[in-house]
Amino acid sequence: MLTLSVIGTNYLGATHAVGMAELGFNVIGLDTDERKIEALAAGRLPFYEPGLPELLKKNLDSGRLRFTTSIEQISDADVHFLCVGTPQRRDGNAADLTYVFSAVEAIAKVAKSGSLIVGKSTVPVGTAELLIAKIHQINPSLDLAWNPEFLREGFAIEDTLHPNRIVVGVQSDLAEATLRQVYEKLLAEQIPWIRSDLRTAELVKTAANAFLATKISFINAMAEVCDVAGADVMTLATAIGYDPRIGNRFLQAGIGFGGGCLPKDLRSFMARAEELGAKEALDFLSDIDSINLRARHRMVDLAVAELDGNPVDKKVFVLGAAFKPNSDDVRDSPALEIAEGLAKLGANVVIHDPKALDKAKERFPHLQFSDDLNQSALGADLVLHLTEWLEYRELDPAELGKLVSRRRIIDGRNALSPAKWQNAGWTYLAPGRPRFDAHD
Ligand code: UGA
Repeated sequence: MLTLSVIGTNYLGATHAVGMAELGFNVIGLDTDERKIEALAAGRLPFYEPGLPELLKKNLDSGRLRFTTSIEQISDADVHFLCVGTPQRRDGNAADLTYVFSAVEAIAKVAKSGSLIVGKSTVPVGTAELLIAKIHQINPSLDLAWNPEFLREGFAIEDTLHPNRIVVGVQSDLAEATLRQVYEKLLAEQIPWIRSDLRTAELVKTAANAFLATKISFINAMAEVCDVAGADVMTLATAIGYDPRIGNRFLQAGIGFGGGCLPKDLRSFMARAEELGAKEALDFLSDIDSINLRARHRMVDLAVAELDGNPVDKKVFVLGAAFKPNSDDVRDSPALEIAEGLAKLGANVVIHDPKALDKAKERFPHLQFSDDLNQSALGADLVLHLTEWLEYRELDPAELGKLVSRRRIIDGRNALSPAKWQNAGWTYLAPGRPRFDAHD
C-alpha cells in the first residue's frame, strides 16, 4: 500500500487528505500553520464542509490519517500531493506562485529517492515544467505529475471520492502507473481517466473554470437584456437549458460568481495568455469578469432604487454572507460586496448567515452581523436574499412579514418563489425578472 503526503491543508488539501485516507491509504497532512494542524489533528475542521468533520474523525481514529508541521515527517511517503494555495497577486491579475515554489523546494529536499510529487493546486500553464527543473536541481530521482482538482465547496467529499473525471499530466509511464494505484478504487467505478502532458493537465483546470464562469456570465448578460426588454430570464434559462448542447446547469442568473477559485482563475488565465502572446484569445474573459462584477453593482443600484433613491439610515437586512450556500467561505463573496456597497451609501445594513459570520466579520469588521434572523429582520425597509441557503428558501414570508417595516425583497439568487412571497403581501424583485408586486 502506498504512503501519501498532502502538503497544504486548506480547503483542497484537508479534503484530499481525508479522501485519500478514506480510500485506505496512510496519509500525512503537512502545513506550516500550527493552529490549523493542531485543529485538524484534534478532529476540528478550520472551515465548514458538510460531512467532512465526520470523515476526518473516522480516519484520525483509524490511525490512517495524521497531521504535522514538520517537513521531515513526510520523507517516507511514496507520493506527495501538492495542495497549497495560488491566490491572485496583490500587484495584478497573475497568480501568486510563492507557496507552490517554496513547498516544492521543501518537499524535494526531504523526499525519498524515486518518489512522485503530484501537483493539485491550480497553476498557470508551464508552471510544472519550471517546478521540475527546480526539483531536479535538488534530487534528480524525483518525478512530477499534475493532477488537477475539480471539487466544489459544499460537495467536496462527493467530488473527491466520486469525481466525474480524473486528469493526470505525466512525463513517464511509471508516474501514470503510480497514480492509477492511488485512484484504483475510483477507476473501478468507471470514472473516465485522461492521461496528458503536464501543460494540458494544467490547462484543463483553468479552461474548465473559465467555461463555468462564462456560462454564469452569459446568463447574467441575458438577465441584463431581460431587464431592459421586460422579459424573464428564469423562463429563458429553462427553455434554452432543455437543449442538451446547452444544458441547464450553471445557468442560474443573479449576483454572479465569487469564491476563491472562479474569479482569480479567470484573471490569472488572462494574465498567462498575455505572457504567452495569446492575449486576444482570452480577451473575452475580461467581459466575463466585467459582467460578473456588474451584477453586484446592479444589485446595489436596484436596492437603492427600491429605497426610493435614498439609502441613508434605511435598514437593509441581508440574508447570506458566504459566496454560496453550504460553505463558510467569504472570499470575493458577492453578498458581502453588495452589503458593503450599501453600507457605504449610508444604509443601516445587517447581515445574517448560518455559517459564515465569523469569517465575514474577520474580513469586514466594520459591517454589522447578527446570528439572530428574526431580531435582525425587525424594522427592515428592504430584505436582500444574497446566498441561497436552504433555510432562507424555506422561510415563511408571512412570519418574516410581521417583523419588517416594509414587505419588499430582492432575490439576488433567483432562488425563491415569487408567488409565495407575493401572496404573503411582499413585493418581489430579482435580476432579469419582471417585478412581482404584492397581492393585496
Ligand atoms: C469552482 C468549480 O465549480 C470547481 O469545479 C473547481 O474545482 C473549484 O471552483 C476550484 O477551482 O477549486 P466553487 O468555487 O466551489 O467551485 O464554486 P461553484 O459551485 O463553481 O460556484 C462558484 C460561484 O458561482 C458561486 O458564487 C455561485 O453562487 C455562483 N454560481 C454558480 C452562479 O451565480 N450561478 C450558477 O448557475 C452557478
